[in-house]
Amino acid sequence: MRECRNTAAIVLAAGKGTRMESDIQKQYLELGGKPLIYYALKAFEDSPVKQIILVTGRGETGYCRKEIVERFGFQKVSQITEGGRERYHSVFEGLKAVTDCDIVLIHDGARPCVTREIISAAVEGAGRYGACVVGMPVKDTVKMSDDDEFAVMTPDRSRLWQIQTPQAFDYGLIFGAYSKLLSSEAYQTGVTDDAMVVESMTDRKVKLIRGDYSNIKVTTPEDMDLAEVLLRRNHMI
Ligand code: CTP
Ligand code: MG
Repeated sequence: MRECRNTAAIVLAAGKGTRMESDIQKQYLELGGKPLIYYALKAFEDSPVKQIILVTGRGETGYCRKEIVERFGFQKVSQITEGGRERYHSVFEGLKAVTDCDIVLIHDGARPCVTREIISAAVEGAGRYGACVVGMPVKDTVKMSDDDEFAVMTPDRSRLWQIQTPQAFDYGLIFGAYSKLLSSEAYQTGVTDDAMVVESMTDRKVKLIRGDYSNIKVTTPEDMDLAEVLLRRNHMI
């Protein structure tokens, strides 16, 4: 069975949460009596994934070990490692910390509403295609603007997807792609997800698979209210 392959998950929690404008980073904000990062870790703990690498900010590994991993008894968290300046630096730190795995899933710790079903679909997709990302077709019309915020283009909505995480890959493929990215400064601007790294650094295609509209990323303050409603609906609170 594909799901029995040796899979690892990298859960990212090394961001500063600038757009949340709160005193503490969003991943540690309390939601339903627990820190936000708990919910993503819980979903992976209860999934077919074998090991979880938690990537934290500088000087936060001790706090995370005690207040999150030990407090909530996460057995699958095999390593807690420090991330870097940009998301892609943090991902690379996570990739280097993974041991003995065929498939690796990369997940934003700021997406608490991910489910076991989405995780299983991503593992399955990586086994089948080598590279797959979870996303959903966009619901709104999307426009490209110029520097003065006048509309210049309206892409065909039927081909647009909003991309979520987890993003799941053959380990060798994604490690090779990231190694290449990190060794060439020229390509590093505007890297916002892992699929982009595979798209630009390899000749492999990335498969889009459907996640769920409720798999939101908590980014701005109102997302906390939304996440609370969605977690209650999923019986996580
Ligand atoms: N992340 C990370 N390391 C970074 C930047 C981001 O591990 N250097 C993680 C965040 O913790 C988050 C995920 O990547 O789980 C998605 O990033 P984003 O939503 O942009 O979070 P932040 O970078 O923390 O927020 P902001 O961009 O508003 O500062
Ligand atoms: Mg960010």
